[in-house]
Amino acid sequence: MGYEDRFPASKEVFERAERVMPGGVSSPVRRFDPYPFCVERAEGSRLYTIDGQVLIDYCLAFGPLILGHAHPEVVEAVRERVADGFHYGTLTEPEVALAEKVVDLVPNVEKVRLVNTGTEATMSAIRLARAYTGRDRIIKFEGCYHGAHDAVLVKAGSGASELGAPDSPGVPEPVAECTLVCPFNDVEAFVETVERFDEEVGAVIVEPVLGNAGCVPPDPEFLKTLREYCDGTERLLIFDEVITGFRLGLGGAQEYYGVDADLVCLGKILGGGLPIGALAGPEEYMTHVAPEGKVYQAGTFNGNPVSATAGLATLEVLEREKPYDELADKAERLASALADGLEDRGLEGTVNRVESMFQVYFGVERVRDYGDVNAADHDAFKAFHRGLLEEGVWIAASNYEAWFLSTAHTEEDLERTEEAIESALDRLTG
Ligand SMILES: Cc1ncc(COP(=O)(O)O)c(C=O)c1O
Repeated sequence: MGYEDRFPASKEVFERAERVMPGGVSSPVRRFDPYPFCVERAEGSRLYTIDGQVLIDYCLAFGPLILGHAHPEVVEAVRERVADGFHYGTLTEPEVALAEKVVDLVPNVEKVRLVNTGTEATMSAIRLARAYTGRDRIIKFEGCYHGAHDAVLVKAGSGASELGAPDSPGVPEPVAECTLVCPFNDVEAFVETVERFDEEVGAVIVEPVLGNAGCVPPDPEFLKTLREYCDGTERLLIFDEVITGFRLGLGGAQEYYGVDADLVCLGKILGGGLPIGALAGPEEYMTHVAPEGKVYQAGTFNGNPVSATAGLATLEVLEREKPYDELADKAERLASALADGLEDRGLEGTVNRVESMFQVYFGVERVRDYGDVNAADHDAFKAFHRGLLEEGVWIAASNYEAWFLSTAHTEEDLERTEEAIESALDRLTG
């Protein structure tokens, strides 16, 4: 059955959406051809569309739902919470409890500012680093996505220029030029840039695992070198753990790779599926955030008690059940099914996995930076994605996103997904 036959009701909603929303979606990555399906509800590992289709979900809202959809404990906590109102614009106990939990679980964190999105978290972290160091330039890495604000919507400049260039119309050039862009995992290029601009650079921001190019792990020396070149200098290392936080383990990438960050940005899992973000770090830096300090950061919905409650319930389940080995095992099963499937068919390609996130890349032997991801066969990925969808398996519709596992994925889900992988790969060779 073709896509349009399976999702006819979704098409009608999408046509309405296109009339009133740019591109018919609320965020660009949700758009794919011919149109996105429309979800009515979700439970555990499954999405139920308004067309009556059921899909096993490995996109999981792009990462937050590590316990799967509508986990009973999270639902119950939120249900109780909303009965007492949604937001008050004053101090609430859940936000304090969530901040305490972050301090408890995440290394090198003494204070937390809860915000609403990962975008706000990185925007605020960069402002804080600039204010603390008195330096405006930052270094980011190609392919790392830190949200949709001007300082980070920047790509490598052309030619000899090491200064960044706007990656979206509307980003002012002078703002983009404050951001220096280096290739991910390229220690030499980073060292050259940091030495050249030395005292102008106030922050280095990185996704410890490049999750916005699928799944690209850091080389062992890469994160250590970033740390080294921030140590003993007026320069802060910011780990954007919006994806990796509570995904690689309770302590995130800092704990996983044994590298300390100066500031940590959190989001996604922290809100248990509700909107949230957080800027976190030691007292020495966080004390500069308003109203304690002068670095302005504010938000009507900051510390929303419903998001905080969902996040806290999620972290409590993770702490109690410590499901990380089980999550990694499940991911390894699917990653192996992909790698074996490629090999059995003589297809060139590679699979990268870190704990419970992974991605397959067609037509390339190995992927260790953004350039390698760009060189992959994206038409093959698109066809593979469509093949999986037709077998009832949903992964993000882009090779620049990752597959995520949740505790809700069952043995039956994994078996069905292994079959779907076989069938989708057969179509590629067929
Ligand atoms: C690593 C990373 N940082 C920041 C963000 C931005 O977070 P948000 O979409 O909540 O603004 C994202 C979003 O996908 C992300 O993956």
